[in-house]
Amino acid sequence: MSQLSNQEVYDLIDSALEFKAGKKSVIGQNKFAINLFFENSTRTKSSFQVAEMKLGMNEIEFEAATSSTTKGESLYDTVKTEESIGASVAVIRHSQDKYYEDLVNNHDLKIHIINGGDGTGQHPSQSLLDLMTIYEHFGSFEGLKIGIIGDLSHSRVAHSNAEILTRLGAQMYFGGLDAWYTPEFAQMGPHMNVDDLCKEMDVVMLLRVQHERLSAEENKNFSKDDYFAKYGLNMDRVNLMKDDAMIMHPAPVNRGAEIGDDVVECCKSYIFPQMSNGVYMRMAMIEAVLEGDNSGNEITDKKRQAILR
Ligand code: CP
Repeated sequence: MSQLSNQEVYDLIDSALEFKAGKKSVIGQNKFAINLFFENSTRTKSSFQVAEMKLGMNEIEFEAATSSTTKGESLYDTVKTEESIGASVAVIRHSQDKYYEDLVNNHDLKIHIINGGDGTGQHPSQSLLDLMTIYEHFGSFEGLKIGIIGDLSHSRVAHSNAEILTRLGAQMYFGGLDAWYTPEFAQMGPHMNVDDLCKEMDVVMLLRVQHERLSAEENKNFSKDDYFAKYGLNMDRVNLMKDDAMIMHPAPVNRGAEIGDDVVECCKSYIFPQMSNGVYMRMAMIEAVLEGDNSGNEITDKKRQAILR
């Protein structure tokens, strides 16, 4: 996200909204995509699969557990193999932070690489679909108050969103355990209690607690009920929110942990619309990288490189 200009972000949002309004593109016709997910996913993987199909692409099946990565094949060799077989686009989710730097900086790959999430680093397609959903509702980011509540330090969504929303003119606020409010977030906005955040924010973004990234000690000391009472979004807190305020969550949600069961689909919740928008945003991202193949011009190639990060 740090390498996309503001104009490129707005261009991707416009393109995604056009797809949502019915724009057709077969830019991917007869091209192949591969979705290399080395970490679990429901939304991102399915959403890229649907986006690829809507653009006319064919998907090469890949399951990390049955692939030759289990025999020691490196990520680079896997990607180079798929390029050799004929894939034009590889969407990659990997546990290693910035896994893409080696692929992009140390090799001359022709295949387009789209980051589907790296470690605790970035999740650009999630961030872009979040931006699309906010823009669709408010028509602007300037001056919006946006609160992110939850496991900030382990969340690639929080990193991507806080950075880009600040750049687009929103004011960021944070909530959740003090330990998760690292200096990186402190320089972008204040930490507040959840009741005050609910009263003041235009957008309340929730994050699940990423137990898989906590230490055994941290997990042992964690109480779901205590967490929900202190930081969770329940209906009493929803009722404090402004009439047109939005509740967002990248999901998966843990009902009763960071969000009440009855809040997930309440009238202020945009959690499922975020998922629907994700297909259109991923179509826009894939179209943007494939346009570089057709025009071969330097500007679209720069855009392609930017989307990688
Ligand atoms: N939001 C998100 O990345 O969900 P998945 O892990 O299911 O892809």
